[in-house]
Amino acid sequence: MKVSFIGGGNMAGSLISGLLGKGFSTRDIGAVEIREAVRKRLAEKHGISVYPGMSDQAMRADILVLAVKPQQLKAVCMELAGKLNEQTVLSIAAGIRSTDISRWLNGYGRIVRAMPNTPALIGAGITGLYASTGVSEKERAAAEAVLKAVGETIWLKTESEVDAVTAVSGSGPAYVFYFIEALQAAARELGLEDAAARRLALHTFHGAGRLALESTEDAATLRAQVTSPGGTTQAAILHMEEQEMKRLFVNAVQAAAKRAKELADEFGKC
Ligand SMILES: NC(=O)c1ccc[n+]([C@@H]2O[C@H](COP(=O)([O-])OP(=O)(O)OC[C@H]3O[C@@H](n4cnc5c(N)ncnc54)[C@H](OP(=O)(O)O)[C@@H]3O)[C@@H](O)[C@H]2O)c1
Repeated sequence: MKVSFIGGGNMAGSLISGLLGKGFSTRDIGAVEIREAVRKRLAEKHGISVYPGMSDQAMRADILVLAVKPQQLKAVCMELAGKLNEQTVLSIAAGIRSTDISRWLNGYGRIVRAMPNTPALIGAGITGLYASTGVSEKERAAAEAVLKAVGETIWLKTESEVDAVTAVSGSGPAYVFYFIEALQAAARELGLEDAAARRLALHTFHGAGRLALESTEDAATLRAQVTSPGGTTQAAILHMEEQEMKRLFVNAVQAAAKRAKELADEFGKC
């Protein structure tokens, strides 16, 4: 399978590292990138072919990964429109619907949309994938293999679920960082030094996340197991419940989903 990236920035770089790590050959990966410095970095770091524009050679791929910023996607699609034959177009641009991509590509049907998240940068991402009806099983599997190179994948049945994934796992790392900040602040207020506060907060999130992933128990059971009646954890949880923290958090994630839909509507207007 040959993969060409249009846009060779952060996310493309992570995917390229992931693919090479999974045994892809440098001969089978290419990238179109307008910035010379980025082209040089990609060629030196990964040894792949890089192109300044959408040449025939760059288009010689089974999958074209659209990895430019969302506001650049329409122009990229317009340029790509006449050059497609049978490639699967895999867009990782946040907030742009496959129906709009298809329209910008003169009605092209082989489109897969992916919503990865930043832990992909260290191979620990999770990506929601949605395929339009013109995509075959084989093409879906090929698109999934690209995202599998940087973590887990989940297929979505409807495109509107991509907005939910954007709110949950796309924006999710920021929520986790926010809670890490809060736990660190609490540690400092309790008299611990900065370095200790940071290590305690980071390792608590890392360890609890790993424990939850590796356990067969759900999160509520794991929480109950560390919450003895009348104990310290219960004092904290009771306080959170009184403040309806869970409701507040659910509302916050819903606000993100609403914004994802609004942004998709705005991008799709043009
Ligand atoms: N980073 C994440 O964690 C993450 C998560 C989910 C989704 N995404 C999506 O992934 C996409 C890429 O994000 P990123 O962080 O990797 O962006 P990025 O670092 O800005 O990379 C995009 C690169 O493409 C270049 N470019 C712009 N127009 C081009 C064209 N016509 N042909 C070739 N190259 C072109 C850009 O150059 P200029 O800088 O000159 O514009 C830039 O070097 C975005 O749409 C984003 O929504 C990212």
